[in-house]
Amino acid sequence: MTQRSCRDLRVEHLCRPLAVGAVSPRFSWIADHAQTAYRLVVTDASGSVTWDSGRVDSSETSLVAYAGTPLAAGADFDWRVESWSRDSVLDGGSTFGTAPDLDAWSAPWVEPVQVSAVVERWSLLDWIRGGGPTAPVEERLRPANLLRQAFVLDEAPVRARLHMTARGVYTAWLGGERVGDEVLAPGFDSYAHRISVQTYDVTRQLTAGENVLAVALADGWWAGRIGLTGSSAQFGDRTSVTWELHAAFADGRTRVIRPGATDVRSGTGPWRYTDLFVGECYDARALPDGWREPGFDDRAWTPVVQRGVDARALVPFRGEPVRRVQEVPARTVRATPDGWIADFGQVIAGRVRLTLPALPAGSRVVVEHTETLDSDGSWFVNIAGINKEQTDVFVADGEEAEWEPEFTFHGFRYARVRGVDELRPEDVVAVVLSSDLEQTGRFSTSDARLNRLHENVVWSQRANFLSIPTDCPQRERAGWTGDLQVFAPAAANNALVAPFVSRWLDNLRSDQRSDGRVTITSPYSPFDAEAAEKATGLGGIVAAAGWSDAIAIVPWTLYERYGDVRVLEDNYDAVLAWIGFQTRTAADELPATLAAGDLSPERRARQALLYNTGEHFGDWLTPSTMEGRPTHEAIGIAPALTSELVAPMFQAHTLTLASRMAEVLNRPEAAGLAARAARVREAFAAEYVSADGGLPVRLQGMYALALGLGTIPDDLREAAGDRLAELVRERGSRLDTGFLSMPYLLDALWDTGHRDLARAVQWQSEAPSWLSQVDRGATTIWETWDAIAPDGTIRAMSFNHYAFGCVDDWLFRRVAGITPTAPGYRRVRIEPDLDAGVTRVDAAVGTPYGEIAVVWRRAQGTVTVRVTVPFGVEATLVVAGETVPLGPGTTERAWDRVEERARDRADEGAEHV
Ligand code: BGC
Repeated sequence: MTQRSCRDLRVEHLCRPLAVGAVSPRFSWIADHAQTAYRLVVTDASGSVTWDSGRVDSSETSLVAYAGTPLAAGADFDWRVESWSRDSVLDGGSTFGTAPDLDAWSAPWVEPVQVSAVVERWSLLDWIRGGGPTAPVEERLRPANLLRQAFVLDEAPVRARLHMTARGVYTAWLGGERVGDEVLAPGFDSYAHRISVQTYDVTRQLTAGENVLAVALADGWWAGRIGLTGSSAQFGDRTSVTWELHAAFADGRTRVIRPGATDVRSGTGPWRYTDLFVGECYDARALPDGWREPGFDDRAWTPVVQRGVDARALVPFRGEPVRRVQEVPARTVRATPDGWIADFGQVIAGRVRLTLPALPAGSRVVVEHTETLDSDGSWFVNIAGINKEQTDVFVADGEEAEWEPEFTFHGFRYARVRGVDELRPEDVVAVVLSSDLEQTGRFSTSDARLNRLHENVVWSQRANFLSIPTDCPQRERAGWTGDLQVFAPAAANNALVAPFVSRWLDNLRSDQRSDGRVTITSPYSPFDAEAAEKATGLGGIVAAAGWSDAIAIVPWTLYERYGDVRVLEDNYDAVLAWIGFQTRTAADELPATLAAGDLSPERRARQALLYNTGEHFGDWLTPSTMEGRPTHEAIGIAPALTSELVAPMFQAHTLTLASRMAEVLNRPEAAGLAARAARVREAFAAEYVSADGGLPVRLQGMYALALGLGTIPDDLREAAGDRLAELVRERGSRLDTGFLSMPYLLDALWDTGHRDLARAVQWQSEAPSWLSQVDRGATTIWETWDAIAPDGTIRAMSFNHYAFGCVDDWLFRRVAGITPTAPGYRRVRIEPDLDAGVTRVDAAVGTPYGEIAVVWRRAQGTVTVRVTVPFGVEATLVVAGETVPLGPGTTERAWDRVEERARDRADEGAEHV
């Protein structure tokens, strides 16, 4: 056996996280060899071994769970991995089984990774509320509070960690420098149940003598406006913050600094008001000179009010924080009678940074934001709804300034700036905000439009993966479950989404109602609950088919793409509870069109199995139900028409996923769930599928779902596929699928033998179609196909909704041909569609074992395919009817006469028939 080196060491999917919340964190590494055994050793801060796995004969390199003595809360630990392969002679020289001698392990060990394990226990005691004037500036628009705590250290610490969180959003400074590089901390959580605590390494920012921790605290998601209605104070109406600084000194002493009643003082400063929706007003004149440094006279500042912290809600932050991830320069800036309009050429979520000349004190610079201009180039605001101004204001103090808002963000491509005599392109830049996920995928082809479509998806993902996965970054900014459910597979191709999405699932579970209903959005505020209770119709929906099923579908997607079993474990009970709700409702209710007395006992029994009642969004935004009608009228048609079918189809799907989860987790319910799924499918077929494969609602989406979710009996799949094809042809190969069915359409056509039609829909340039958006200049994915109508009319819809971007998964799976066939890409099938209509594809996905890359080219009947597969992945390449098993490394092969081969295969197929 040879000891070999590894790279890319990770804890809980992440490279060198500063803190992990898991009691038993999982370790991953990439082995650049065919690993046959590994050994993990974990040591605590004093160097004592807390876990030595010993040599484990296993090829696994991903998510190996810690199984040592419990890790001390808040303390660092190191871990190392050693990995063997069988590619050289077994030397029998293993020294394992005895007490490890760490010093003796040299080269083969990977450099230790240091992680601070923060295991649940917090002693954060008090919420600190801001002092100073609290009166709203305008209706419920409040100033940000400034808080400061001065403290003296007799020497500089050797290690210091700041744990901090807020009900609101905060930025902190220590030693005059910003703490960390994240923005809008602590992020959006379902605060009534969970508030994420950040951990920062602040060792360098502390000195002997007086130190000052300065904090600015604003409304954020807690007290500011959010959601469909744009109402404020949905979680609480006063912000507060709490922190705890742990310092360790060279001689072994430690000290914990907490905010006390007397040593924290608070006032207000330059942020006159700041709100996620309305925007921010920054008055440079009101910045207290030196407030973040020692020596500032804060006697006029009021001490703060305190309240006890409910420690149960505090959890270590999981995943990647929101950061400024990119800057987009202005492409053009032009003068209009109403101000300067800067075009950044790209719809983003973020804000604008301005370089301003010295302006007279008190003068105002106003920055408005929008995602689109009107067709004549004039200013147009595409966000419907009150309190969604997206307007920032800078009040000058007579000095030159570089200014970017701190506690807000907007969805925009254009900014209109007023209050300056001149604005040059170099004076204005768009700062992109996003949860800072590792970008792992790439996709490009010989076709520029297809590439732009993919880029649009990536941009919509970036803009909407902002603390939580949202529907859109400008209007609601809500964690709509349905949107993520349809988009999750595409998202997982583009970025490492496992920690980010898992944290959102933590929130979703905490929002689940006691009767098992999974809420349509998460975080779900007390305000949301109250509003739903009062409303009727769509507004009264708490849980919905295809939205609530995210609780099963999203974890399953993570399992498929990352092999993460714990995400199944974490969510399994919540899935069962949701199934419980569906099952009870099915037994209790009948669709309004049926009366119990008229039904035969068999029919009644079937109906009692089907979750087919209640208010749902159905196949939301189905194009043909919207066309030619004003949105407010049209919006309810697809729900009314499709919910009775959609709900039991998702019920069946969730039951199947639950039974698969149960199998993976060795739960006893597996067989029962599978049997129930089969009974629901049978009942669905008996109630809704005709003998010739027809469904009662003639819409593409119903067939796509029935085929995709397996609610058409096997022997009728082909017939149903033909009906779907007919519907697609009737629409001239244009899309007529809504939110829920969109991800299944192309596969449903493909799997039932309508491959050319699937390709035609993908390539369609007439709306509704993906490329029609590209042709109309889209730089992100739109909420509706007619956000810009064919005649150029601009509508007040979101220009940044990723849901319909789910087609990106198809591009990776079919056009590039990369499909996982075992969890975490342990096995992968690579079968590019050589007739995809492109001559070159270059794509890659990140997997737990390393990158899988595919480059294929087609020229004059010859196809060249180059595939790179990491160790640990078993790949099969399927080209021109030939199946080639691939070993790790890069393989390049060429096939000539591909057309002839395809014809031969078609003929052979015909003969078989
Ligand atoms: C959101 C959607 C969401 C839907 C629910 C809309 O207002 O923007 O993306 O899923 O409501 O039907």
